[in-house]
Amino acid sequence: MKRRPLIAGNWKMNGSRKGASVLAQSIHDGLSGARADVALCPPFVYLDAAMEASLPMLAYGAQDVSAHDDGAYTGEISAAMLADMGCKYVIVGHSERRQYHGEVDTLIAAKAGKAIASGVVPIICVGETLAQREAGLTAEVIAAQIAASVPEAATGANIVIAYEPVWAIGTGLTATTAQISEVHAQIRGLLEKRLADGGVLRIIYGGSVKAENAREILALADVDGALVGGASLKAESFLAIINAVGD
Ligand code: PGA
Repeated sequence: MKRRPLIAGNWKMNGSRKGASVLAQSIHDGLSGARADVALCPPFVYLDAAMEASLPMLAYGAQDVSAHDDGAYTGEISAAMLADMGCKYVIVGHSERRQYHGEVDTLIAAKAGKAIASGVVPIICVGETLAQREAGLTAEVIAAQIAASVPEAATGANIVIAYEPVWAIGTGLTATTAQISEVHAQIRGLLEKRLADGGVLRIIYGGSVKAENAREILALADVDGALVGGASLKAESFLAIINAVGD
């Protein structure tokens, strides 16, 4: 089955108000009959700037969400607020949040569950560290993360999984196509067993995706798009990745 690819740009903690609006506009202007859904994930405070021109060919996402509905949670942003802002997606469980903010699978599942309840699609990130890969633990780590960070309410259509090997994020190291294929097939197998409509689930790859390697990665059978960090901060490189879909 061919699923419509998703190319999502994770801007992380970069940019400015003006820059967010200019980057969104340039990406939109450069899209010509894209064969993929395209989502921009700016910092929370620049979501509205990136949305300002109401660019019809772009979708938007946030980089995190609260596991709570509302109330006394200083600094948190709820899934309902993201939906209210017009976000279609939210990244949850990114390795930088697992690593620097101590996020664990149960919290990630709770966040993803709140997103689903508000009609926002969580992009649930999983991936092994270099030490885990070198110790031969990749399959085990991925299975545990998938089991515990995908919430009860998940279906093939209301979540996206991002496989992001931690050692490939922001390092310039990309997993080989064989490594990517192996893990994507494993994730699909696990979720096809668990979700009735697992066949429609989009599994995207992230970790140093750039114009030069996008074509071969996006052509892999179980790869349904990309989560792009560094290369999503410039319209030219992000557009080159989008244009590599289906080439
Ligand atoms: P990168 O980041 O493309 O800069 O490696 C990917 C990500 O962290 O989502």
